[in-house]
Amino acid sequence: MTVDGPDELEKLKEIGAICRDVLRAMGAAVRPGVTPRELDLMGGKMLEERGAKSAPMLAYDFPGYTCISVGSAIAHGIPDDVPLVDGDLVNIDVSAEKDGFFGDTGASFPVGKVAPELLQLLEATKAAQRKAMFAARAGQPLNVVGRTVEKEARKYGFNIIEGLNGHGVGGWIHEEPTVPNLYHPRDRQKLKEGQVMTIEPFLATCSRTYVEDADGWTLRLANGGFGAQFEHTFVVTKGVPIVLTA
Ligand code: CO
Ligand code: CO
Repeated sequence: MTVDGPDELEKLKEIGAICRDVLRAMGAAVRPGVTPRELDLMGGKMLEERGAKSAPMLAYDFPGYTCISVGSAIAHGIPDDVPLVDGDLVNIDVSAEKDGFFGDTGASFPVGKVAPELLQLLEATKAAQRKAMFAARAGQPLNVVGRTVEKEARKYGFNIIEGLNGHGVGGWIHEEPTVPNLYHPRDRQKLKEGQVMTIEPFLATCSRTYVEDADGWTLRLANGGFGAQFEHTFVVTKGVPIVLTA
């Protein structure tokens, strides 16, 4: 959607702050031994207390309040009862609706003590998200996002996972446009002032593609290894973005 006036912006800020708070609380509870279901129920309870609804439940009948993807799973993981293990990575993605407005944010967290390469992966993905978001100014081509993410991934020596993208958001959970993490030089779309979108790079250690698990939801790295994702919802401006989920 495109923001039309201060009332809409307030509503978007409210749902953005809810998503941010839920993600923070869940992330702070990540440790070896805790289960994704425990984290998810915590998130679900917080959403309810703040008058918000889980977007994946609302839009897709997803079997969880939030998506929790562990190890080689990188997106749309179903919260289950398998305790988190020291040295692993877990991705938590929180998207929700209140008063008809949607927010979407995600982050990957280390479980206990992880290998230095995995800390680098987290750092690289977070940097790619941030740099791409600050490059995404009104009037710039949309593909500035992919160009920036590619540059950052290359700098650190990680792969970008093909086929997972940012997206428009705000009036629904997934809207136009698709916001690719790979650079498409022939894409002529321009970023517009007031556009609400997410940028969510997915970087990985040794895979560029993913496969879907038999559960029909979980997306898993095709060649294994580890992946990471960071995501924010923001409003495009001529200057610095209005980050709704930070
Ligand atoms: Co998203
Ligand atoms: Co998300």
